[in-house]
Amino acid sequence: LPKEKAWGIPIYLYQHFWYRLDFLPSIISFLKHFQPKHDDVFITSFPKSGTTWLKALAFATMKRSCFIPSQDNHPLLHSNPHTLVPFIDLEFYNDPNNVNPDLSIFSEPRLFATHIPFPSLSSPILNSNCKIIYICRNPFDSFISYWHFYNNISSRKGTLEEAFERYCEGIHPFGPFWNHHLGYWKASKEKPNKVLFLKYEDLKENPNFELKRMAHFLDCPFSEEEENSGVIDSIIELCSFGKMKKLEANNSGKTMLKIDHKHFFRKGESGDWVNYISPDMAEKLFKVMEEKYSRSGLSF
Ligand code: A3P
Repeated sequence: LPKEKAWGIPIYLYQHFWYRLDFLPSIISFLKHFQPKHDDVFITSFPKSGTTWLKALAFATMKRSCFIPSQDNHPLLHSNPHTLVPFIDLEFYNDPNNVNPDLSIFSEPRLFATHIPFPSLSSPILNSNCKIIYICRNPFDSFISYWHFYNNISSRKGTLEEAFERYCEGIHPFGPFWNHHLGYWKASKEKPNKVLFLKYEDLKENPNFELKRMAHFLDCPFSEEEENSGVIDSIIELCSFGKMKKLEANNSGKTMLKIDHKHFFRKGESGDWVNYISPDMAEKLFKVMEEKYSRSGLSF
């Protein structure tokens, strides 16, 4: 496989996207062996796009008949979103043979996540009735979010400028970011009942509207009664950055990959990149975006 280095780690090109070699066998195994159920839902994203937030919002929305969002016993108050909505390929990574993880603990409708790009998803996933919700974020903010995340979880050295150069060339785990975005973007246009495309920035700006859109897409729209009794507002509040960042469950413990839960909650804002990226660097990424997204209808 073609090999490069990004963020101090070797990454390999598989089906036109870059992957860390240690994860690739389990990703391929997941794509080969995973059998979806008709009502599975997948949260998909390019890393650092708000996956954790969308996991929480989708969980709270889909499971609201079992767990009332305003009550003290809600699972999101006591468990990290990555525990409740696991990355499905990591379940295969953790299985000793990478083939048959025990998924029986996840109640139906099951909710999983993955960073795998759309063109690589397996036919059973694409051809079944299961649904996919994608969260997309401004490439500048995803990059800066990754930069902080990487500094927190790794002791490897490297400058922001070097990482930025690589990022602009598309050399980044699950990159190129533009093809990741565009794969799901096009799929959402071609199959609107199968793929819902959300943007981090829209969720920040108008969470009520976006949440209703998501519930409708998931075939569990909010009733007028739910709307009037504040269910939507409770979900938004429960999953808000301020609330989630303070919870003990998100300040202690680690993910399956031994990453502290707290590293998934940093600033939670749009536009923080201006504090880190120089005008010259910004010009470069703007040019890449202009070229890659031209005529796609996707803009930031
Ligand atoms: P920042 O580093 O810009 O703060 P992912 O979940 O895909 O790893 O993305 C992490 C980014 O989402 C981080 O961005 C994190 O702070 C932000 N985030 C996590 N929970 C959030 C929430 N409830 N609301 C808004 N942003 C959130």
